[in-house]
Amino acid sequence: MRILTGIQPSGKLHWGNYFGAMKSMFDLQEKGENFMFIANFHAMTTVRDGVALRESTRDVALDYLACGLDTQKTIMYRQSDVPEVQELAWYLSCLTPMGLLERCHSYKDKLAHGLDATHGLFAYPVLMAADILIMNADLVPVGKDQKQHLEVTRDLAQKFNNAYGEVFKLPDAYIPETVATIPGLDGQKMSKSYHNTIELFDPSAKKKIMGIVTDSKTMEEPKEPEGNSIYELYKLFATPEEVAEMAANFRAGNYGYGHAKKALLAAYKRLFDPFREKREELVKDPATLEDILQDGAKRARAAAAPIMEKVRHAVGL
Ligand code: ADP
Ligand code: TRP
Repeated sequence: MRILTGIQPSGKLHWGNYFGAMKSMFDLQEKGENFMFIANFHAMTTVRDGVALRESTRDVALDYLACGLDTQKTIMYRQSDVPEVQELAWYLSCLTPMGLLERCHSYKDKLAHGLDATHGLFAYPVLMAADILIMNADLVPVGKDQKQHLEVTRDLAQKFNNAYGEVFKLPDAYIPETVATIPGLDGQKMSKSYHNTIELFDPSAKKKIMGIVTDSKTMEEPKEPEGNSIYELYKLFATPEEVAEMAANFRAGNYGYGHAKKALLAAYKRLFDPFREKREELVKDPATLEDILQDGAKRARAAAAPIMEKVRHAVGL
């Protein structure tokens, strides 16, 4: 089974990215042939600063390596190091109905958030389909907001197969229900566009956790834990026993939001402190990081080559 996922280097990765996207990839790492790429072409739909894009691309690679990506088991590469994806995106573009892209929520949401309506932003799902189909992926771990893009991918694969014969497999999205939407500091979905994130290695994590918005119940009052952001975030980091204990504490009363925030901070540090140490080591050796990415690019291009050969032949080139 081929498992592939991508993430845009469009800012520092946060808890929502970790639990919504990265963790599923790590959990599946033992289960198949894995590909993880850094979608720097996609990031150009929002990032217009070359220095920042290069730096974010490197940061994403470091974050994945620090948090558990094993290069023996997963091919990690930069999207731009497999330029054939642009070629495939063109072939798919020629089969893509305008209406299909016009219906994409993500495009409409981005316009609503003030992004320019560029052709790149509009065609974003076609390039994403190319990323997936070029590697013949079976399973694509993504966050819930990417579900429609996977449907577009399947649709385009089907259209290609109908036009040219069976070339592509239809990939499935992998979206664990338990981590559907991670709340941010203000209770809305955690997202860099809402400025409510805690970054993976946030130097001000403690301050941000202590600042999570709560209602004004006193410490003595019993509280309902479900739906409370601190509790929802704690569930991601803590064991089932620890979660049950926090729920019981809230319901019993004499347990304040401050206590829960301290427990959340401790659980975050327990998971992330070892990752932080690993990242500090990796960052000292940029040449090794570049070697890893170059090696990933070589292996990814080799995986794409037989599929592209079939595709070119099928379309008549
Ligand atoms: P942002 O909303 O901060 O711009 P992205 O859209 O770049 O994040 O998300 C990258 C990946 O992380 C996607 O697969 C997305 O579904 C996942 N993700 C981001 N934020 C969350 C969240 N709050 N809850 C669950 N998954 C998330
Ligand atoms: N659109 C995805 C996101 O914003 C990133 C992405 C680009 C991707 N190409 C992909 C994810 C291919 C999975 C597979 O998170």
